[in-house]
Amino acid sequence: MRKNIVAGNWKMNNDLAQTETLITQLKGQTKTSNAEVMIAPSFTNLWHAFQSLRQDDIEVVAQNMHFAENGAYTGEVSASMLKSIGIQTVILGHSERRAYFNETDASLAKKVDAALTNDIRIIFCFGEELADRKAGNEEAVVESQIKNALFHLGAEAFKNIVLAYEPVWAIGTGETASPEQAQDMHAFIRKTLADTYGNEVADNMSILYGGSVKPANAKEIFGKPDVDGGLIGGAALKAEDFYAIVNAF
Ligand code: 13P
Repeated sequence: MRKNIVAGNWKMNNDLAQTETLITQLKGQTKTSNAEVMIAPSFTNLWHAFQSLRQDDIEVVAQNMHFAENGAYTGEVSASMLKSIGIQTVILGHSERRAYFNETDASLAKKVDAALTNDIRIIFCFGEELADRKAGNEEAVVESQIKNALFHLGAEAFKNIVLAYEPVWAIGTGETASPEQAQDMHAFIRKTLADTYGNEVADNMSILYGGSVKPANAKEIFGKPDVDGGLIGGAALKAEDFYAIVNAF
């Protein structure tokens, strides 16, 4: 059966001291749900966070990586570098990476391959913009984002992939997709997977929702049958709020 996952994407927040403080506060929280918990600090704090949380039930994951194994890519970090400090999961395709750093379906397909080659699990993000939704194109956009970056893979590869639907209009805006909008899209995503890869791949896929998830709305969103967790931005920066969301399952 698929897992429930709540992952905190810290984005470009928290220096080393702030990372230490937040991790201490996270350790003080109690988990009452069955959800897997992850946090994604910035590159500079990954090693420290990984060491601090070695004994704990919180996985430390990366926010990005490059597709090349190594070489002349100033400022970039490779899958094997992440692997060498113990990181086992990477977020790929976040809409902020697509919008501000020109990531495309084609470059993401290469990153996906590099992560899987290095045995790194992927949280693959995608989602439509407001104009797409207003035009009624949200399913077509999401379908092409998923197919272009992932559908060259064999069925086995999907065991190492988690999907994260993040409608761009709901990220950091305070505007959340309604639980029904999230459910409709998640069901569409699962059907898209089933149509190509069969029911087993589709039923075992964890599909997370991201976009202004808060303690106040998490329970209702996570209550939908095809929503298997959340990718949390702003609310992941406060330990109490993050665990209120984790415990919403
Ligand atoms: P917010 O929860 O701040 O809307 O961010 C969502 C997100 O982008 C997580 O990756």
